[in-house]
Amino acid sequence: MITTVIIVLVILYFLKDLFSDIRSVNPLDAAKQESPVVEGKFTPKTLCKYNGSDDPKIFMAVKGRVFDVSQGATFYGPGGPYENFAGRDASRGLAKNSFELELLTPLDQPLDTLEDLTPEERESLDSWEEHFENKYKIIGTLHGENEK
Ligand code: HEM
Repeated sequence: MITTVIIVLVILYFLKDLFSDIRSVNPLDAAKQESPVVEGKFTPKTLCKYNGSDDPKIFMAVKGRVFDVSQGATFYGPGGPYENFAGRDASRGLAKNSFELELLTPLDQPLDTLEDLTPEERESLDSWEEHFENKYKIIGTLHGENEK
């Protein structure tokens, strides 16, 4: 009799654990913990607020795709060495290994086609792209203002 009670108690104990595990992986709970969903399609103007100061999130476009680089805030956040890239299309700067402001396409101009890049610059850009693919999440794409 006592053995049956013990077995039942042990089973109940494990069932309780099982249910609390299920609760903790409830997708609704997980979604609540994640940051709010942001748009998947950006234009240079909608992207630029994600620069770590107007919005705490930091997004950066590379070859038409938008990466969430918020984790790299020490690089891209305000005062960071690559803060110019935050909220912008960084492709040309990455291709030319320069974070100079003049390499960023002004917000009111069409998207940079990158057509004039040399093979070496393309290679440099591609290897940066690979670096970002391995490190950060892609959260959207970059589009021209008139091409939504
Ligand atoms: C003075 C020369 C430079 C030094 C000493 C330097 C140093 C560094 C260091 C130490 C890292 C961190 C590497 C890591 O922990 O993964 C880094 C990352 C990086 N650097 Fe530089 N850098 C220099 C120039 C540049 C230039 C000119 C660019 C322009 C494209 C650049 C763009 C980047 C980017 C995009 C990252 C990656 C950050 C990330 O993983 O999100 N750096 N740099």
